[in-house]
Amino acid sequence: MITEDNYLRLGVNIDHVATIRNARGGLHPDPLRAANIAYQAGADGITAHLREDRRHISDHDIERLIKEIDLPLNLEMAATQEMLDIAIKHKPNACCIVPEKRQEITTEGGLNLNVNSHKLEDCIKKLKENAIKVSLFIDPQKEDIEKAKELGADIVEIHTGSFANNFHNTKKIRDKEFNQISNISSFANEIGLEVHAGHGLTFDTAKVISRITVLKELNIGHFIIGEAVFEGLDCVIKKFRAILNNERS
Ligand code: PXP
Repeated sequence: MITEDNYLRLGVNIDHVATIRNARGGLHPDPLRAANIAYQAGADGITAHLREDRRHISDHDIERLIKEIDLPLNLEMAATQEMLDIAIKHKPNACCIVPEKRQEITTEGGLNLNVNSHKLEDCIKKLKENAIKVSLFIDPQKEDIEKAKELGADIVEIHTGSFANNFHNTKKIRDKEFNQISNISSFANEIGLEVHAGHGLTFDTAKVISRITVLKELNIGHFIIGEAVFEGLDCVIKKFRAILNNERS
C-alpha cells in the first residue's frame, strides 16, 4: 500500500521542451504547457535548469512556472551570484545546485564539494534564509554526502548517470553501480539528509532505482520528453507514476 512514508515523488524536468522551442526561436512548444500536462498526469514537481547560457529554460519561463503552475518548482542552478539573485527573487520550493560547464551536453557529473566550498556554503545559507530548500547534486560517494551535510544542505540528489549508462553492462557491474547508490542513499538518510536521485533514468532504470526505499524523489527529463514524441507526455508520466507506485506498494 502506498502511504505518505513510502511514496516516491516524480519530478518532471521540462528543459528539453524548451530545447525544442529554442531550436526555432519561437514560442512552441511551450514548457508551461508541458508542466500543466505533467501536473494533470500526476507529477509531483517540475524541475527546470536555468543555465548560464540560457540554452533551454529562460528567465521568463522561470517567472511563469512560479506564477502559473500548481506544482513545486525545483530550480536547478549553478552556485553563482546571478543564479542566487534569481532564486531569491522567485523563491522556488527548492534549488538543486549543480555543476555547470559551458561545453557540456548535459550535467555530466556531481558537484565537486571541495572546490569553492566557502562560496557554496554561503549560497546554501542564503537560499535557506529565504525559505528555499537546498539540494546538492552529487556523485554516489560517502565523502560527498558527509560534506553536503557539513555545508548545510537539506537534500542530496544522487547522480544516477553511471548506473544508467551501465544498466546493460554485465550483472556484476550493474549490481555494483546499484549497490553503490543504495548504500550511499541509506547513509545520507541516516545522517538526516533527504535523498533524491536522477539523471539518465528510463522506465527500466527508474523501476530498479525506486526499490531503494529511502529515496523520496526522482527527477527525470530527457527520457520523458523523448518518449513523449511516441506516446504523448500524459501517457509517459502516467506510466512512470504507475511504475513508481507499483515498486513501492
Ligand atoms: N537531476 C539533475 C540534477 C539534472 O541536472 C538532470 C539533467 O538536467 C536531471 C536530474 C534529469 O536528467 P535526465 O534529463 O537525464 O533525465
